[in-house]
Amino acid sequence: MSLRAGIVGCGGISRSHAAAYDSLADVALVAMCDINQDALNNRADEYGVSNRYNDYEEMFADESLDLVSVCTHAPLHAPITIAAAKAGIHVLCEKPLSVDLETADQMLTACNKADVHLAVSHQFRFTPLFRHAKSLVDAGEIGELRSIREVGKGREAGFELMEMGVHYFDEMDFFLDGISWIQAHITYQGHDVTEADIMHSSELCKTDRRDNGIVAGDTMLIHIGGAKGTYGIMELYKREQRQGWMMGPHLLGSEGQFMIKPNPKTGIDEMWYCPFDVSFATHTPAWEQIGLDTSAFIISGKAWRSRHTIWSAKNMRDAILNGNQPELGGHNALTSLECVSATYVSHFSEKKVSLPLDERSHPLVSS
Ligand SMILES: NC(=O)c1ccc[n+]([C@@H]2O[C@H](COP(=O)([O-])OP(=O)(O)OC[C@H]3O[C@@H](n4cnc5c(N)ncnc54)[C@H](O)[C@@H]3O)[C@@H](O)[C@H]2O)c1
Repeated sequence: MSLRAGIVGCGGISRSHAAAYDSLADVALVAMCDINQDALNNRADEYGVSNRYNDYEEMFADESLDLVSVCTHAPLHAPITIAAAKAGIHVLCEKPLSVDLETADQMLTACNKADVHLAVSHQFRFTPLFRHAKSLVDAGEIGELRSIREVGKGREAGFELMEMGVHYFDEMDFFLDGISWIQAHITYQGHDVTEADIMHSSELCKTDRRDNGIVAGDTMLIHIGGAKGTYGIMELYKREQRQGWMMGPHLLGSEGQFMIKPNPKTGIDEMWYCPFDVSFATHTPAWEQIGLDTSAFIISGKAWRSRHTIWSAKNMRDAILNGNQPELGGHNALTSLECVSATYVSHFSEKKVSLPLDERSHPLVSS
């Protein structure tokens, strides 16, 4: 029998969740919900879903769902997840998991109490190229892993931290086998961020509709301490798009480098290797592309070559069917958001901050 899946929030990312449930064996997409009737009808028409709701509580009560994707903006992730848990439904939640650790903890408590999974959809790590890169790094193909570097897409850093930063933290958690600490420095309009620079995400970033709660700063340099002593470096700053978005890890080892970036023309991820530890203008050997057999990307007869939600949804489906914890379930669902809080705590305390944090309230909101 197929798992009955639903989706709350029928905007941009819902297409990727709908495509996943539409394609995965043993899952049937049966119901969708949005307060915006046009958004609901558009997405439900696209995937032939006839059970449509404007109220998620009503959908949870009526549909006997096994699994729901929470695809609204971040401030609604907690109330929707908690309602789903109370209805006994497993939750695959979009990132960022929530706007602060306090509400994220409440989500996890509600899911644990109801004995349902809570997983966050950081799909990058589940893709075949990321898995392949990890296996090559672990096999010593670039010597000793020294660092991972990531750069934002060019939106104001406080906003970007909640959009791409959480994905990058998860990526680093994956490649570094866990994150131990964060050390960050944040500026706004050229000066060190102070309490006067704390604002709502819509005030900071006027070019993106998404609500990421309270944020600060247009520029961030974040150092990430991996569990085994290797470093991550994240740079988020305002800039124009160049050569596509360039999102993806640059892994530097003592004997070589790997990069996974979307091709700027096709948007399809590519993995590249350079057999040298650092880059000199004149003496760097040529980069070569590392391909994977097409079969690695096939799910239900179709090749999924980029960072599609189907990769995290598949892990969630398997966890439900096999009675395991999803890879980004339980406390692992909180890690990337722990890093967001730690970034602000580190900046304001001017200290290196260990994870997990004791203080769970939003670091930018005074109680
Ligand atoms: N994992 C990824 O790669 C990825 C990519 C894009 C977006 N996201 C995340 O997905 C989330 C949604 O982003 P988006 O770009 O799809 O946003 P969006 O603005 O396109 O869509 C959000 C939808 O939620 C609906 N909504 C609002 N309140 C609702 C309610 N009470 N009940 C039901 N529906 C409601 C809105 O009407 C809208 O249609 C964000 O958290 C974002 O960060 C993740």
